Amino acid sequence: MVSAAGTFDFVVAANRLPVDRVVEADGSAHWQTSPGGLVSAMDPVMQGRRAAWVGWAGDPTDEIAPFDRDGIRLHPLMLTVTEIQDYYEGFSNETLWPLYHDVIVPPRYRRRWWAAYERINTRFAEAVADLAAPGATVWIHDYQLQLVPSMLRAARPDLRIGWFNHIPFPPVELFGQLPWGRSVLRGLLGADFLGFQRTNDAGNFMRACHQLLGTTSTGDVVSWAGADDDLLGAEPRRVRTGAVPISIDFTSMDELAREPAVRHRAAEIRASLGDPQTVLLGVDRLDYTKGIRHRLRAISELFADGEITTPDVTLLQIATPSRERVRAYQELRSQIDGQVGRINGDFSGIGASAVHYLHHSYPREEMAALYLAADVLLVTPLRDGMNLVAKEYAASRWDGGGALVLSEFTGAAQELSQAFLCNPHDIVGLKQTILRAMREDPAALRKRMLAMRRRVRTHDVHAWARRYLDALEAAPGKPSRG
Ligand code: F6P
Repeated sequence: MVSAAGTFDFVVAANRLPVDRVVEADGSAHWQTSPGGLVSAMDPVMQGRRAAWVGWAGDPTDEIAPFDRDGIRLHPLMLTVTEIQDYYEGFSNETLWPLYHDVIVPPRYRRRWWAAYERINTRFAEAVADLAAPGATVWIHDYQLQLVPSMLRAARPDLRIGWFNHIPFPPVELFGQLPWGRSVLRGLLGADFLGFQRTNDAGNFMRACHQLLGTTSTGDVVSWAGADDDLLGAEPRRVRTGAVPISIDFTSMDELAREPAVRHRAAEIRASLGDPQTVLLGVDRLDYTKGIRHRLRAISELFADGEITTPDVTLLQIATPSRERVRAYQELRSQIDGQVGRINGDFSGIGASAVHYLHHSYPREEMAALYLAADVLLVTPLRDGMNLVAKEYAASRWDGGGALVLSEFTGAAQELSQAFLCNPHDIVGLKQTILRAMREDPAALRKRMLAMRRRVRTHDVHAWARRYLDALEAAPGKPSRG
């Protein structure tokens, strides 16, 4: 792959573009900014620079030409139906996702999926190589694009290349299962800086490199001695790694939650739930990593034990539809449908549901109102790179109210130590923790919430992006600027 340089000083490559294509009933289409943290994190970093973003346009449609939006060049990559099945649903979400999340469901290793992953990563690398100006900074995101750093370096050694993993990086005992694990590591080592959510993730990556590639490391720098390598080339490389935990836009969430319309809506939500004494809330993508089944089990037992009863207590569970064509997600959906049905059959009264279960996604305003309406937010993943819902909850609670039950297997638990931490596998412990959070004295709850808010305010998404880019800038083995 040989490329002529482009004109953009800062290029982002992520599986998805920061916009979604919305098709109206009359067939007309327009772009709408995607919800989610990455877009708001990147925006201030990209403004004022010649910036471009390469990503999948989302739907299998005809070729869409690059276009400008808010001063940023958006470069859509189109995937065919088969490419979506093999690269996105297959290798990204049936192989890497379960493998990187502690093998909660068994990963599937299929050679055809790996071949598609290599091909699509090549297309991302080619698109970035064409767009990037001499000496430009490139920020690659997440597990879908782990081969792009080396592919890009081979074409454009002048670039400063960073990669950030939004999800966990597994211990080598699990990572070693991946038949193409060595290629993935060599793909990543093309970057100057590799960012992870937690120090443990960075450590897992360094140990995998040591055991599977024979690299050495000094502090946070991995050294590759150089070899006749098709991905990495013959030159020795020094690659910096580090933990840079992602965050949210605290100010915009805090301001949104203070708006009178949102506060009014929060009261309306409580009223429509029958004004219970305690509203428990769960907000997740419908994903097996999120521990929704364990949470429902604990809630069901609390009702069965008589520790909680309707109409005093209700659980409002929002499950956003996700990856609906992947089998494990379909199975999870029917399991949860069954669990919710059983709990409601056993414990609801007329007009007093034990569980309100909503399989929808909601706009930010509604999310802020839900957070304000909840007495206890239950965040109980079995494994989660970060969990931004926990941070959004803290940012929304300008009133100092609310309690957060938080799994110790989330990245967020390392920062939000004032939450009620739990092990979601331990159902007895989880039940006790939920009851503790419900029964804690309001003054003590307020102290916890204010401390969590302080943490998220001082470590917001803008600070995250700055820290990341500073680390990338300071990485060893700086390329020569053209
Ligand atoms: O956190 C990992 C991630 O892939 C995010 O990048 C993304 O927003 C989320 O999970 C949802 O995944 P998908 O893009 O597959 O819908």
